[in-house]
Amino acid sequence: KKILFVTSELTDLVKTGGLADVSAALPRALSPLHDVRVLIPGYPQVLECGHPIRLVGSLGAQGDLPACNIGRLDLPDGLIIYVLISPELYERDGTPYGDEHGNDWPDNPVRFARLGLAAAEIAAGTACIRWAPDLVHAHDWPAGLVPAYMRWRGLKTPSVFTIHNLAYQGLMSMNQRRRLGIPVEACHHEQMEFYGHLSLLKAGIAYADHVTTVSATYAEEITTPEFGCGMDGYLRVKAEQGLLSGILNGIDESWDPATDTHLIQNFSMHDWAGKAANARHVREMFGLAPSEGPLFSVVSRLVHQKGIDLTRGVAQTIVEAGGQVAIIGRGDARIEDDLRQLAARYPGQVGVHIGFNETDARCLFAGSDFLLMPSRFEPCGLSQMYAQRFGSLPVARRTGGLADSIEDGVTGFLFDEANVESYRHAVERALAVFGRPQLLNAMRCRAMNSGFFWRQSIAPYDQLYRRLLGDQQATAI
Ligand code: ADP
Ligand code: GLC
Repeated sequence: KKILFVTSELTDLVKTGGLADVSAALPRALSPLHDVRVLIPGYPQVLECGHPIRLVGSLGAQGDLPACNIGRLDLPDGLIIYVLISPELYERDGTPYGDEHGNDWPDNPVRFARLGLAAAEIAAGTACIRWAPDLVHAHDWPAGLVPAYMRWRGLKTPSVFTIHNLAYQGLMSMNQRRRLGIPVEACHHEQMEFYGHLSLLKAGIAYADHVTTVSATYAEEITTPEFGCGMDGYLRVKAEQGLLSGILNGIDESWDPATDTHLIQNFSMHDWAGKAANARHVREMFGLAPSEGPLFSVVSRLVHQKGIDLTRGVAQTIVEAGGQVAIIGRGDARIEDDLRQLAARYPGQVGVHIGFNETDARCLFAGSDFLLMPSRFEPCGLSQMYAQRFGSLPVARRTGGLADSIEDGVTGFLFDEANVESYRHAVERALAVFGRPQLLNAMRCRAMNSGFFWRQSIAPYDQLYRRLLGDQQATAI
């Protein structure tokens, strides 16, 4: 079947977090079963990616949503990307969502409404691209209006909406309604109204034929007040109607320590000398003193969700036990400053790189003994999967996808409460295992064998698509 993915990030072209990895890997993993193509806005990073983009279609202006072109970009491995080209909306420096200082673009409602409407026009076959999907799969709030415009246009094409993170809700003021062509009935709490605002995320949840999120535990958590970000009641109803499910993300084959060309030295199970070579490299890169002690890493967006403040709280325990910490991250300016101070307090023992760098991130997974991931919530989390594959044992909070992808005491260490005491206890358990090389190596082997490959997640997506497409053979998920 023909499936259109709609996303605002794709690792090959532009990435701020795990959404990009999933948007890049999932269509490829599904490609033996379906013709999956991707629609993404034409940010500078996309237009300047070095591969030719051919104009294949155009869309007229509608209300305040400007006319756009559609380009087609074929990635070297054959993945077909449709690029929504609008210089006034997408061609600016910064991230997909805002400027270099992290301020959201004020016209995000128009930018992502245009994306939503474009997808609906492609689905309706009116975008002149000579390809129309049988099903549309939209990801996170930037694509939240995709199922909505499809419904408002009366399309019968089924849609799936995936929540990668409920905390980003794509809120806008009610007075945007008319210029974006949103019908007045939609401004209701059973549709996309959210405490006096309009929410793009809620639009996706409201109008999609099925809603998924990226782990089974998170799918349950978001129906509770603690994790529901104000939408738990609404999501509970969806869950009761059988319209909400959790499908765990996977990782692609590029995450393999035996072949990853970013590493200073490749290694595989039992080749702990090879892993140690990567550790030496990381210590040099992060200005850490040579050491035989445990090396902890952090690879993270620097936002409240990720519990970086909690990691600051356990740094002393790690350093006093002869351990070191190497951190790469980018995000909130306050958290960046806090980390710089932490590095200054423990010179040679805590090293911090503020920035976003794929090579450094991969070296950290390969070189570290443990990955610190004390997230307050975590829809799925990919870093802990990558770390395990590279033999770095995660120390993580038992929440969301972390709970579903780490076996406590077997492939990593889990703790329950989002506080320093609970976390410190898990760090101490990790330190104790470091002192028992046989156990450490056994855990590393188990972690490297965890096998979170996409093939496990493909079956549930395939079943879901088939069911929505009316295939009587498909069983309910
Ligand atoms: P989230 O999507 O919430 O940021 P995930 O764990 O799902 O969390 O995905 C994060 C992705 O971004 C992983 O691929 C991780 O390696 C990568 N990443 C996060 N921060 C950085 C960074 N500073 N430099 C390079 N890669 C990073
Ligand atoms: C979000 C979540 C993360 C998840 C990723 C990909 O960014 O924060 O937990 O792994 O999306 O689904």
